[in-house]
Amino acid sequence: MSATPAQQVRHYLQFSDLSAPEYAHVMVRAAEIKRKFKAYEKYHPLADRTLAMIFEKASTRTRVSFEAGMYQLGGSVVHLTTGDSQLGRAEPIEDSARVISRMTDIVMIRTFGQDKIERFASHSRVPVTNGLTNEFHPCQILADIFTYIEHRGSGGSEDKVLDCLKGKTVAWVGDGNNMANTWLQAAELLGFTLHLSTPSGYEVDQAVAGLRSANSYKIFKDPEDACRGADLVTTDVWTSMGFEAENEARKKAFADWCVDEAMMQAAKPDALFMHCLPAHRGEEVSASVIDGPQSVVWDEAENRMHVQKALMEFLLLGPIHD
Ligand code: CP
Ligand code: NVA
Repeated sequence: MSATPAQQVRHYLQFSDLSAPEYAHVMVRAAEIKRKFKAYEKYHPLADRTLAMIFEKASTRTRVSFEAGMYQLGGSVVHLTTGDSQLGRAEPIEDSARVISRMTDIVMIRTFGQDKIERFASHSRVPVTNGLTNEFHPCQILADIFTYIEHRGSGGSEDKVLDCLKGKTVAWVGDGNNMANTWLQAAELLGFTLHLSTPSGYEVDQAVAGLRSANSYKIFKDPEDACRGADLVTTDVWTSMGFEAENEARKKAFADWCVDEAMMQAAKPDALFMHCLPAHRGEEVSASVIDGPQSVVWDEAENRMHVQKALMEFLLLGPIHD
């Protein structure tokens, strides 16, 4: 069991919590960890470690990828939800953090406000990872960047692995939500440009996204203009979890923000399409795009597991050079 002093604990609460060189390391490790998985090579660096997963919102990919990933690393998992724990009966989040982090080695939380995961982390003895909040979804963008590198990079060592992102354009079409905020942080940190087109009233907020400047993104009124010349086009549901009461209003506001073939044609001929999933064909993306040749959404989903294994390895063991 780890007994890491609190001041040495590294959390992953938003994308900007790791530096570019640390991302380069995690990307290289994720490729190696994926290779081992595909070769049925046993790799148990987290034997006897326990991951606590706390879900206050629904999940398929995050649950399966963290749970399967932790077992594959030799560890075990405890799964908690609001409904089946004292979290749903008003136990203070700080008390829950103190208790859970005395019995486990790493925590993943999916919750509502970012303030909640920050309060948990500030009372946790062990690393806390953001499995999605209203504001951010860093593990997803970690997987998206890895997927982009797999498809468009030339792999390589830590000093080269991120090169394929430099100067590239990612187009975000849709809600100014947790995914958009996280893409904004990634663009600023890793040196690419984000084109954003959101319906009026659903714009991103630079302060919420926690950016240092406005240099790494451009806003477009027309989603097709945002896609023009893009290397990657990406979108997300019109209504995120926790915003279901706005569903009908959003359906009207977002009607023109559907990534279709015309938008993909505006992008570069070899542009990729990504979606964090779950997707609603005919709403934010047409079936022809998500099920078409430029879509890499299934690699993207699978890669959640490989990058999160690399992330947990990094947070618990630090850099590995084997
Ligand atoms: N993309 C993603 O986080 O999916 P889940 O909501 O299924 O976990
Ligand atoms: N923005 C979506 C992502 C789901 C993985 C949500 O928060 O519901």
